[in-house]
Formats: sequence, C-alpha cells, structure tokens
Amino acid sequence: MQWIKNYHHFGAPVALLFFIDTILEKGSWVDTGMFIQNVMLAARGHGLETCPQAALAEYPDVARDLLNIPESKKLICGVALGYADYDDPSYQYRTDREPVERFTQWYR
Ligand SMILES: Cc1cc2nc3c(=O)[nH]c(=O)nc-3n(C[C@H](O)[C@H](O)[C@H](O)COP(=O)(O)O)c2cc1C
Repeated sequence: MQWIKNYHHFGAPVALLFFIDTILEKGSWVDTGMFIQNVMLAARGHGLETCPQAALAEYPDVARDLLNIPESKKLICGVALGYADYDDPSYQYRTDREPVERFTQWYR
C-alpha cells in the first residue's frame, strides 16, 4: 500500500517529471541527478519537502502519452513536491546513515 502511494505522489499537489534526451550519455545523467538534487534543496529553502520517485519511471508511457513527450526523451524519475504532513506515520520513519569509513577508501 505504501508503494502504491507513489502513484498519487504521496498526496503532494505537484509532481515534477525529469526526462533526459536518449542521445545523452553517462555524464549527462550525472548532471541531471545533481540538477534534481539542487531542485530538492531549493524546495527546502522555500519551506517545501520533496520525495524523489523512481517508481514513476517504471511507467514512462503514462506521462509520455498524457504530455505528448516523444520517445527520444527517457523518464529518469519524478519528484513529489509539497508541504509535508509531519503527523503522517510514514514521516516518522528515519533511515540510518553509514559512517564515512564504510564507503570510502583513503589513499595518502
Ligand atoms: C533517485 C531516487 C529515486 C527514489 N525513488 C523512490 C520511489 O520511487 N519511491 C519511494 O518511496 N522512495 C524513493 N526513493 C527514496 C526516498 O525518496 C528517500 O530517499 C528515502 O526515503 C530515504 O530518505 P532519507 O535518506 O532522507 O531517509 C528514491 C530515492 C532516490 C535518490
């Protein structure tokens, strides 16, 4: 049921959809990921919350048909955008953070 909420954008009034041209390669995908994160950070700066949603990219043709987006554009992910419901049980969930040493090798 929690996963299905993806397709209602977790109740957010706005769903951002990020497409990339299929001729673009690895570096441009990285650029786009950084761009998406900057949009998410800017949203926080305006008192909004976001949730990146790869779930939307599983059904790219829904948005493609609705918005008349050509096959030459690939849907990377969506981002739900809105004000958080801090009382919702799902908002209470917190994930742990790995210590830096677990994913970094230091060379001197
Ligand atoms: C690119 C990307 C796609 C994601 N797609 C989904 C998704 O489709 N549905 C979902 O519930 N969470 C998705 N997540 C995970 C959540 O948005 C969020 O990152 C997760 O709840 C952990 O948040 P936290 O690191 O702030 O605890 C995605 C995260 C990223 C970075």
